[in-house]
Amino acid sequence: TTEELQTLVLTTLDQNQVIEDSKNIKFDGKPIDQLAFLGALNSLKSKDMVDYSPIELEFWTLTEEGEQVAKDGSHEARVFAAVPSGEQGIPIAELQARLGEAAKIGQGKAFKNKWISKKGANLVRLVDSIVDQTQKDLLEIKNTSTHKDAKLLAELKKRKLTDKYKTTSYKVTKGPAFSLEIKHEATEITYEMLQSGEWKNATFKKYNFDAVGVPPSGGHLHPLMKVRQEFREIFFEMGFSEMPTNCFAESSFWNFDALFQPQQHPARDAHDTFFLKDPANTDRFPRDLMAKIKVTHENGGDTGSIGYNYKWKEEDAGKLILRTHTTAVSSYMLYQLAEKTKREGVFNPAKYFSIDRVFRNESVDATHLAEFHQIEGVIADKNLTLGDLIGFMDVFFKKMGMDKIRFKPTYNPYTEPSMEIFSYHEGLKQWVEIGNSGMFRPEMLLPLGLPPDVRVIAWGLGLERPTMVKYGISNIRDLLGHKVNIAMIKDYPVCRLDKKMGKELVGLSE
Ligand code: PHE
Repeated sequence: TTEELQTLVLTTLDQNQVIEDSKNIKFDGKPIDQLAFLGALNSLKSKDMVDYSPIELEFWTLTEEGEQVAKDGSHEARVFAAVPSGEQGIPIAELQARLGEAAKIGQGKAFKNKWISKKGANLVRLVDSIVDQTQKDLLEIKNTSTHKDAKLLAELKKRKLTDKYKTTSYKVTKGPAFSLEIKHEATEITYEMLQSGEWKNATFKKYNFDAVGVPPSGGHLHPLMKVRQEFREIFFEMGFSEMPTNCFAESSFWNFDALFQPQQHPARDAHDTFFLKDPANTDRFPRDLMAKIKVTHENGGDTGSIGYNYKWKEEDAGKLILRTHTTAVSSYMLYQLAEKTKREGVFNPAKYFSIDRVFRNESVDATHLAEFHQIEGVIADKNLTLGDLIGFMDVFFKKMGMDKIRFKPTYNPYTEPSMEIFSYHEGLKQWVEIGNSGMFRPEMLLPLGLPPDVRVIAWGLGLERPTMVKYGISNIRDLLGHKVNIAMIKDYPVCRLDKKMGKELVGLSE
């Protein structure tokens, strides 16, 4: 053990003043392991009880084959010895039968040394005698553990006849605090030491300021949440306030009906939407609003529209679902804004945003999951125009580093006009879809109770795509879900949306 080794060092030093080479020290009659010895030395040195310096030694040994050659001679010398002097020589086949493998290896070298040559099918001697230098060299290495010719050593190693070894041992002397007894070192002052006065005589362990500290363990934000925070700051910077999106379960009423999405719309099918089983329904939405929405869907009510001309059913609106978009929360928030306007008698413009999870009953692949995050922005003010939406989009996406923005008309049940937003991708050299936007229809806004001259512009985009671009993740399952590597969450740096990144953003929810 370390203590036994330490005692051995101290007693040996006490007797001899110095340990010239720790290689010569024996414990229980056996040589000691130098690595364990070093451990013992270091701990004594930290208490200034000893000093030491390393002794590094290089030495050479013979391999099994090297030993063989040192004993019987080199293959070429053995070949030479097997060839008798005289014109006759020895048939090659006979030599091979006699020496086996060594004949093959040795012949070439013996030819090269001009010791032997071929005469018909026989080998004959060219010289009377030879000096087997390889054997001599190997014998020298065997006896002295080295050789003066460094090049030769390297060559013999290449021929697998020798091997090089290194050893480190230590010269040890007494340190300023040498003593035969190892004092216990206190690591900290305790209450008891102060009380008893023991602290006055105690020896304290030195601080090791080079020690690697224990990494502080704390919570870590998921990369998606880091990027979300970055988007949040863009919104806050532009005067937006955050919508309460903490409720994933939503009624079809707020998710679809309040958004003037007809009840037979394919998005309301179980193939596209997750329906809740228990509880499956709710009736917790405002009755008077429900009545207005019903007539607007059926015949347009007093919105100036002709509606969808079908029989609107409360039971469909009451179906509970996992929200398919955060626009469900936007419709609820606009209703709250209308109610506040009625209460206070004045309309105040509003800017809302949210970044949260939505759910779609779709097949999943490397870029799609059944749940993902949407970034959504809503601005309500009097007399807003499509120009305001376009202008605002320019500013918003520029803040994310996307300076080339283009729009394409599209269809949403709740916005008119509606525009898909495209950004020019410098790498792909093409326009890629980054989001969806529009002006909410009067069929949606008027039943909510907003003043007739209030216009609402809104847009949405996905959070996963920019995050994957930012962190270089190509499979969405590495980012979200049960296959996520926890270490990844700890190790990913804080998010900073930069100019370059904007050009990389691709795609919205679909
Ligand atoms: N809700 C839309 C979607 O899920 C995005 C959107 C939001 C479109 C607001 C227009 C206005 O794709």
